[in-house]
Amino acid sequence: MQTLDDLNARFALEDALVFEAGGGGLLRAVVRTRACTGEAYLHGAHVTRWRPSGHDEVLWLSSLAEYRAGKAIRGGIPICFPWFAGHKPADQPDAPSHGLVRTALWRVDAAARDGDDIVLTFATDLPPYTLRYTVRFGTALDYALAVTNASATPAAFEVALHSYFSVGEIKRVEVAGLLGAAYENTVGGAGTRHTQGDAPLTFAGETDFIYATTAGCTIHDPGLSRTIEVDKRGSASTVVWNPWAGKARTMGDFGDDAWPGMLCVEPGNIAPNAVRLGPGRSHTTAGRLRVQTAGKADSHSEVVVSH
Ligand code: BG6
Repeated sequence: MQTLDDLNARFALEDALVFEAGGGGLLRAVVRTRACTGEAYLHGAHVTRWRPSGHDEVLWLSSLAEYRAGKAIRGGIPICFPWFAGHKPADQPDAPSHGLVRTALWRVDAAARDGDDIVLTFATDLPPYTLRYTVRFGTALDYALAVTNASATPAAFEVALHSYFSVGEIKRVEVAGLLGAAYENTVGGAGTRHTQGDAPLTFAGETDFIYATTAGCTIHDPGLSRTIEVDKRGSASTVVWNPWAGKARTMGDFGDDAWPGMLCVEPGNIAPNAVRLGPGRSHTTAGRLRVQTAGKADSHSEVVVSH
């Protein structure tokens, strides 16, 4: 297991990247550069904060989040793998929601500075898979999960990069970019099939939709006067979730009144778009976030950050 001393000796980059004990004493990387500030825990390889310079925090992080082994941090970007929600193997009825790696202790494999960006790579093994998760903290946030089937037989998995965003007021938020996409509405359990019409998605109640789309989308948030672009690659599903008041009350780590201030938009690959990998083959699911103040051109929008 990597200790704080090991991590700082091997990977710290002056003031731009240091490792420290965070919530519950769990170890985290802290990024502070001209481009942004950010944080990621080894527990779950979980990005919890990203604030590009000139903007507020982009990710939502519950004030009631619990930081302990066996529990996923509520907020930021948990990684759901190798299954999404309750799609667990039939022979593992007690297995947790959203798979096994958001509560696993990952290791840091590499850290580098690239201009004003910090690129951090986490790794873990979950047979038959090996996982590498690369996060680029800059004026954009890039996060890419590369999964390799290290076994001699084919394997299939689901994945979601379960990104929680801070929004001003969910009832005023619009999500553009999903027009015409088929989706499954999973509110209440039994999925029903729909197609997003020719209007952006708006929110008037509990929302738990799995879209079949390879396109990114844009969150328009008049409450915080900003838009967040969620680009993606290697992803044929996008989940959009807000628990609304009733479901929020059932979650101990989610404030009863916090739901109007968050929205999840999750790049992923979920049945029927689960990823099938032959022996030795790899697949990368990736997201890229950029934020822009509403009504203003983003001074950083010309910066090209390679995926
Ligand atoms: C979302 C799912 O991705 O995650 C929801 O679509 C689920 O159905 C939510 O409630 C939170 O899941 P968990 O396991 O973190 O409470």
